[in-house]
Amino acid sequence: MTLKCEELLAFALRIAEQAATMMQQARETKAFSADYKADHELVTSTDLAIDRYLCGEISAAYPSHCILSEESSPNLLLGEAPTWVIDPIDGTVNYAHQHRHVAVSIALYVDGQRFLGVVHAPFLEECYWAVKGQGAYLNGARLKLTDTVSLRNALVATGFPYQKNALEPLIKRVSNVLHQCQDIRRNGSAALDLCWLAAGRLQAYYESVKPWDMAAGALIACEAGAVLGRYDDVTSDWPLEINGDALLVCVPSLYEPMQQVLALD
Ligand code: IPD
Ligand code: CA
Ligand code: CA
Repeated sequence: MTLKCEELLAFALRIAEQAATMMQQARETKAFSADYKADHELVTSTDLAIDRYLCGEISAAYPSHCILSEESSPNLLLGEAPTWVIDPIDGTVNYAHQHRHVAVSIALYVDGQRFLGVVHAPFLEECYWAVKGQGAYLNGARLKLTDTVSLRNALVATGFPYQKNALEPLIKRVSNVLHQCQDIRRNGSAALDLCWLAAGRLQAYYESVKPWDMAAGALIACEAGAVLGRYDDVTSDWPLEINGDALLVCVPSLYEPMQQVLALD
């Protein structure tokens, strides 16, 4: 399939910027409400408004493409058509609590592979993007990881699920990381964790997340030179390229050491 890469990237950057503006405006005017969609899982009216905006723009511009969206189509199966994978707000809890670590995440998969990714964080004034094989960028500057790092000076990010029924292994892994690495961060946006890894501010990231949390950030991290693998078994049915189970993304030299740190014996 011939896809116009520059046109697609320009489109994704444009709708991400508008989504970012919507986030800012709703926060400035306090024009949003928050609700729970599951036990502990928050959703705000801004998540839903941005979802409607993004889906409308994508359907109008690319009617033959599919959309896998956290808020409106989370069960879509990846088929043959190019598929947009969107998280209208990654970092909803941060957003609701006036924190700055919040982003819109937009990815495009083609033939089941990551093709482009945009992560725009309005309160940090950072827009990350990558196209497969063409590198990763932050506000127009190319990102390239340096890999002179040991476990001892690795800053490691992770996150915790909304469901609180299986915390024991998580806590064991956090304990291992605290004992063997420099420190740990729980910043509240998986998409930004992956981008901050790409920017060299973190050296490893691990967590089990959903496809929309990781789709764009995974491409951005890999295009900056990170490796992507697993620290445990994949248990959900998503195809691997889009599967966020037991994700371990880090600078190449830390991949095996981090697998050992995260192994539970
Ligand atoms: C969440 C964030 C968080 C991660 C959670 C995600 P949301 O996404 O990415 O960092 O730890 O697993 O669900 O709910 O803010 O879109
Ligand atoms: Ca998310
Ligand atoms: Ca979200």
